Order: sequence, then structure tokens, then C-alpha cells
Amino acid sequence: MNDRLAYLSGLGNEHATEAVAGALPIGQNSPQKHPLGLYAEQLSGTPFTVPRREARRVWMYRIRPSAMHPAYRRIDNGHLAGVLADPTPNRLRWDPLAIPEAPTDFVEGLVTLLANPDIANGTGVSVHVYRANRDMRRVFWNADGELLLVPQQGSLRLTTELGRLCVEPGEIAVIPRAIRFRVSLPDRSARGYVCENHGPVLRLPDLGPIGANGLANPRDFLTPVAWFEDKDEPTELVQKFMGGLWSTTLDHSPLDVVGWHGNLAPYKYDLARFMAIGTVSFDHPDPSIFTVLTSPSDALGVANLDFVIFPPRWMVADHTFRPPWFHRNIMNECMGLVLGAYDAKEGGFVPGGLSLHGMHSAHGPDAPSTERAMAADLVPMKIDNTLAFMFETRQLLCPTQHALAIPALQSGYDSVWNGLRKNFSASTAASGTGDDA
Ligand SMILES: [Fe+2]
Repeated sequence: MNDRLAYLSGLGNEHATEAVAGALPIGQNSPQKHPLGLYAEQLSGTPFTVPRREARRVWMYRIRPSAMHPAYRRIDNGHLAGVLADPTPNRLRWDPLAIPEAPTDFVEGLVTLLANPDIANGTGVSVHVYRANRDMRRVFWNADGELLLVPQQGSLRLTTELGRLCVEPGEIAVIPRAIRFRVSLPDRSARGYVCENHGPVLRLPDLGPIGANGLANPRDFLTPVAWFEDKDEPTELVQKFMGGLWSTTLDHSPLDVVGWHGNLAPYKYDLARFMAIGTVSFDHPDPSIFTVLTSPSDALGVANLDFVIFPPRWMVADHTFRPPWFHRNIMNECMGLVLGAYDAKEGGFVPGGLSLHGMHSAHGPDAPSTERAMAADLVPMKIDNTLAFMFETRQLLCPTQHALAIPALQSGYDSVWNGLRKNFSASTAASGTGDDA
């Protein structure tokens, strides 16, 4: 942990934290009159009646209840959400989007590249890129899903209703649906990825035969301790609701929660703490072995969203084609790169870039990577200085019309698979091929 903020350890745990002693009532959630004059307010992350193991909620003890706000009015979205293009079977790849020169805060700098056509159904994801060079003065919250932030350049300081956290490239942060927050930029500018999860909240994947340890361990997920500001001054509050941005102005800061308890809270995770598992003999497992967090769907084993990383790791497989094999996946794959290079692409996929390989689209290592891998001396080798990731979803991902119109969209992405040589010749193959003519 490189920031000096205080955190609570563990994912999915009940946490209890107070910035002022006595903020948390003892033995009940909503006393008739709070001893410190606070208001009790519950935020539900799941319907009341889901099984207990699924239930997520937080009780906040705040200076003013959230209900105390004027009507929201619709404001301009910029390039957030936007209009979806027709679904495409084509593979797509984008260069990094530049950080604007004009003053741009985190919300203004959001650009939606891919989205699920019907976010109102409580499934699917949207994929955005953020670029910012100005601290937020307003406060934002999202009614449409939880936000998985993947910084790629510059750190983010997130001041939320439930406390403050700092996250930098190599780490991720998750902000639950409806939690208010403000983003400031310790490095003055920042760029990264956002996966907006419209489905069930992210959680750790089951481990099956792996056992009780491995992949991402619960104790490495860090949740902020309670922190509040008591400011009686006009504060703009912006929400995203069904894709649109809406704004209102409060006469106080909404970041006024003095204490809270529950299991619905922001958290961060250092991806360097992910214990990667791979083969120690030959071939390699499906990339699901690199799942950090998962949002399930209503079909057993079918993810609404898997967040998967490709971190530094040793490659030791004998007599094996070591990069990801050529494949056609029933799921939709959106990939990004935080740093370094990805072992299946020689060039063109650079930090800050993004690719879409939609359902059943054929893909795999590009031609130079394939040739190199087939000729490689298969000694143990460390893939280092790299951090790629994938948002994988069962739901169709459509590009926005804006994403198809920007210069960052690479033309000719298909050509990276050109030049794969035909190595097979029936006339020179060994007998027994099944051709008995
Ligand atoms: Fe793939």
C-alpha cells in the first residue's frame, strides 16, 4: 500500500467503521434519536429477500439524509453512453484515446466504446475509457451499475460516501452502484478503463479443485475507513440514470457519512497480489484461471462479467504452443493493456488501447507472435513487465457510433493474422491421414 489512507481488509466481509466515536449505534440500526444527531440510512445493493449469502447492504449514519435534494435535471452526456451502432461480427481495436487539452474532469472525460444494448434488464456491461486533467468539484453516482476502475496512467484519489481510497496503475477499484464519489488527480492527469457492471455485484470466483487459497485472496481487498466532510456550501450532484446524466445542486456536501456498517462498500485491490496459476507440465488452462472477480448470471457457471488479468508469470510448458491458442469463444471478450506488451500481439495493442473480440469471432496470436512461438526454445521463461486484462461477458457488446467514428479505431486490424503460412502439404504428409484414394 503506497498511500497513507487507512483501510479495512477483506472482500464481502461485514465492516464497521466510524470517523467519530459513537457514530455507530450499538445493538440496533435505527435508533429513535441518534446520540450524535445523525440520520440513519440504508443503501441496498441487493433486493431485501435474496438469500443471506447474496445480500449486500450498508447502513450509513450521516449529517443529512440523501433524500434531501431538489429535482434532478438532464444535462449533456458528452461521449458517455451515446448511441449504439449495429452489432458487428468484426474484430475491432482502438489506439489509446488522448487526454484532452481542455480542462476535463473524470465524468466529462468518460467515453463509452462498447455496451450491452439493454442495460435496464440488470445484465451485461458497458465499457468506457476515462481521460481527465482536472479534479472533480462535483460529486457523481451511478444508478446503472457498479464501476470497476482500471487505471492505466496516473493515480486516482476517490473520495466516497464511505471513505477515501487512492488507486494507481496496477491496482483496481470498485465503487458500488449508487455510492457517491468525487475523483481527484494526484498526478494532475489520468487515463484508464471503466467496466460498468449492470449485473449482480462482483465477487471472488469459486476455487473448486484449487482449494481454499490462490488467485485473489480476500484479505488483499481494501475498503476505506469512514471519513466525512461537513460543508454547508452548494455542491453539484450528478447521477447517471439509464444512460443519461442528471444534475442537481445540494446546499451541502453529500459526502457526510460519519460512520457506517455493512458489506456494500468501495474497495481496491493491488493486481500484483494475484497468485497466478498455470501449467507445470504441458498445454495451458483456459484463461478463466486468471479470473480476479466475477459477476454471475442466472445460468450456473456463465458469467455476466469476468474480470481476468494476464500478469507477469513464468511459462514452463513442455512441447507446447505457449501463447493463447487460436480460439472462437461463445463469450464476448474486451481486452485492455495497462503496461508493457501482451504475449499474443507483436504490435498495435499498446497500453491504453482496447480490443473487442465478440462472440465466436476467430482470433489468437498475430502472425509474427505465432511464428516466434513455434520456433521458440522452450526453456522456462518469465513474461515480465506486462499487465493485460479482459472484461469477458455473456452479453453482446456493441460499439457506440462514436467509437466507430473516432480516429483511434484501427483500420485493417484483420491484417494482423495475414501471412500465417500454410505449413501442411498432403503430398508430403505421413500416410494414414484418412485419404485412401
Ligand atoms: Fe480470446
